[in-house]
Amino acid sequence: MAHLTEYSPTFLDTLSRPLRNLRLSVTDRCNLRCQYCMPEEEYVWLPRKEILTLEEVSGLVDIFAELGVNKVRLTGGEPLVRRDLAALVRMIARNPQIKDLAITTNGILLAEAAQALHDAGLHRVTVSLDTLRPDRFTALTRKDSHAKVLNGIKTAGQVGLKELKIDTVVIRGVNEDELVDLLEFGKQISAEVRFIEYMDVGGATLWSMDKVFSRAEILEVLTRQYGYIEPVAAVSAAPADRFVLPDGTVFGIVASTTTPFCSTCDRSRLTADGTWYLCLYAQHGIDLRSPLRSGASKAEIISTIVSVWTMRSDRGAEERKEIRSRDVLVSVDRLRQDPRLEMHTRGG
Ligand code: GTP
Ligand code: 5AD
Ligand code: SF4
Repeated sequence: MAHLTEYSPTFLDTLSRPLRNLRLSVTDRCNLRCQYCMPEEEYVWLPRKEILTLEEVSGLVDIFAELGVNKVRLTGGEPLVRRDLAALVRMIARNPQIKDLAITTNGILLAEAAQALHDAGLHRVTVSLDTLRPDRFTALTRKDSHAKVLNGIKTAGQVGLKELKIDTVVIRGVNEDELVDLLEFGKQISAEVRFIEYMDVGGATLWSMDKVFSRAEILEVLTRQYGYIEPVAAVSAAPADRFVLPDGTVFGIVASTTTPFCSTCDRSRLTADGTWYLCLYAQHGIDLRSPLRSGASKAEIISTIVSVWTMRSDRGAEERKEIRSRDVLVSVDRLRQDPRLEMHTRGG
């Protein structure tokens, strides 16, 4: 991880942020309905014929890699509902420019997929887990799949998938009483737990500021339990601030709502239909599918990507923070008109 930037070209945006980190949403579909992400039962899905094939996705990754991208994360929806995901992992892992290939999954299908993902060359796994209580899990996700998630986490460790992380979105009145239990669970399974502030991204239509359990509050609860908590010096543009407990346990906090990290944000995202977004909060994306399918040359696609990135000025989370009476980002009606505005379409 320390040598991620070695030998890669660097294209800087208008705020001097390099093009390094690509999040690939491989499907907009998900097998859960988490309150904070996909609270509706039904959605307007991306048309099937517009979904990029695995070959198209990996071809675009190769182009991005030539331009300096060396971190790729597979997201969704739920990435493991995409058929043959291991085949995509294999194609991407073959590219020596990609130094870090990870997945963010809800874990339900992980037990059955873990071995194939490992064998295909996946480097690491992050599993979303907001609660250790099965009944609470069902209330939060509308699915009775808690045991499957725990089994998926266990299997990931058994097959040798390294650097396991647990992502917990902390919501006031929902799970803020489980911070210590989740940290202890992380210790048991040697996973790094990251507490995530509830964000007002598209799709989180149930968001309100009073439900955000802030980084300061998280630290307060944990300090009360464990004593002095020391910050760990940052080594990358990762969104989590990392901390260490007196017993050496490291955990993270992703405080995108109260302490955005836009000033070092090197990430962009490609939706399953090949639309490239420069920011989680961006209202418009760049269509890379049409040029790809209409036979544009590699040089033309490279030229588009470079000119778009070098003009990038997005700092969505910081702009949201500046709004005084902050409410949901996009209304349900607008989300129905343009499914790409949904968080689940562009990856968490
Ligand atoms: P690492 O490389 O392991 O640090 O991965 P990551 O933290 O980038 O990936 P992950 O999918 O685990 O993301 C964790 C959380 O960070 C997400 O659930 C979001 O809440 C937040 N996050 C991810 N990407 C962005 C982003 O582009 N902007 C903002 N503001 N928050 C993001
Ligand atoms: N706020 C914060 N994180 C969110 N995620 C989805 N919706 C939100 C939200 N409203 C993140 C969760 C989940 C990942 C896929 O996306 O971390 O683990
Ligand atoms: Fe990057 Fe946009 Fe997220 Fe800020 S809000 S960290 S610019 S993706």
